[in-house]
Amino acid sequence: MSTAPNTLTLTQPDDWHVHFRDGDALKAVAPYTARQFRRAVVMPNLKPPVTTVASALAYRERILAALPAGADFEPLMTLYLTDNLPPDEIDRAVDTGGKIIGLKLYPAGATTNSDFGVSDIRKCHATLERMQRLDLPLLVHGEVTDKSVDVFDREAVFIDEVMIPLRRDFPELRVVFEHITTKEAAHYVRDAEGRVAATITPQHLLYNRNAIFSGGLRPHYYCLPVLKREPHRIALVEAATSGNPRFFLGTDTAPHARHLKEHASSCAGCFSGLHAMELYAHAFELAGALDKLEAFASFHGPDFYGRPRNSGSITLKRESWVIPDEVPFLESPLVPLAAGETLGWRGAHN
Ligand code: DOR
Ligand code: ZN
Repeated sequence: MSTAPNTLTLTQPDDWHVHFRDGDALKAVAPYTARQFRRAVVMPNLKPPVTTVASALAYRERILAALPAGADFEPLMTLYLTDNLPPDEIDRAVDTGGKIIGLKLYPAGATTNSDFGVSDIRKCHATLERMQRLDLPLLVHGEVTDKSVDVFDREAVFIDEVMIPLRRDFPELRVVFEHITTKEAAHYVRDAEGRVAATITPQHLLYNRNAIFSGGLRPHYYCLPVLKREPHRIALVEAATSGNPRFFLGTDTAPHARHLKEHASSCAGCFSGLHAMELYAHAFELAGALDKLEAFASFHGPDFYGRPRNSGSITLKRESWVIPDEVPFLESPLVPLAAGETLGWRGAHN
């Protein structure tokens, strides 16, 4: 990484957690991610979800077709774990030569399009065993879905009720605790034994839960797991800027059209594909840790997943700019995360 006073040049980063959707939505958002990142881990929560290798490979082709000609971008596909995903599908996933990077565990009902998710992790034992044996990682949405548990506590409860027993049963399984939002999760990942890592989003580094409620209800700051109190944000910033290789970049960019965000039952998800690296640079600069950004964005992810680091680079310029109020999408536009706010770094394009 090099820092001149007005530029920041980094090894090209990867985004280890994106939602691309499908069809026209995919065509609208995938080019943004491909402009900044060399690779991205693509979530399988389509309707219906991506549960077979064949459907993941077909989806991969649609992603590549949605990119501008000549784009040098590699989608890393995931399969959606269900109560009855057969263990043999894991062999088929491994046989794709790296096109499938892991399986995604959504506890049933936890978030957008997760109704097909896992109702009881014990039903997946044979499949998890095969994943452990063939070394295919598990990517985890870490929230319990028990309605009696306070929504702000669901991640911390998940650690005790699901994550710790799961990792005790499968100690060699590589596990990514996705989009962590709490001090408990940051400390668990920091201190646990074995092969565990976590992704962290820009919104959870930049905002606490006040952002959802300041000056009225602000649905564009609503995602799942939901933003937490300030001490949690501080713990996440500490983790991301610590240089610990267990923490790496995953935006969780999750596009929903404006009319579905500004709705009586607003969809969860923040769209950050437009300006992800600018947001992370802003967060790291606020923490006085710009020198830690490259490892978080470009090294720790590939190292954990056992993939090569990228050889290209991107450059951000020091330039003040205002995040646009919206960008074109489907029948209504997309409102980017932190629309209307000013950022100090611009233009992370290769
Ligand atoms: O906020 C979120 N949006 N969290 C998720 O887990 C899913 C995502 C989506 O697909 O919109
Ligand atoms: Zn997600």
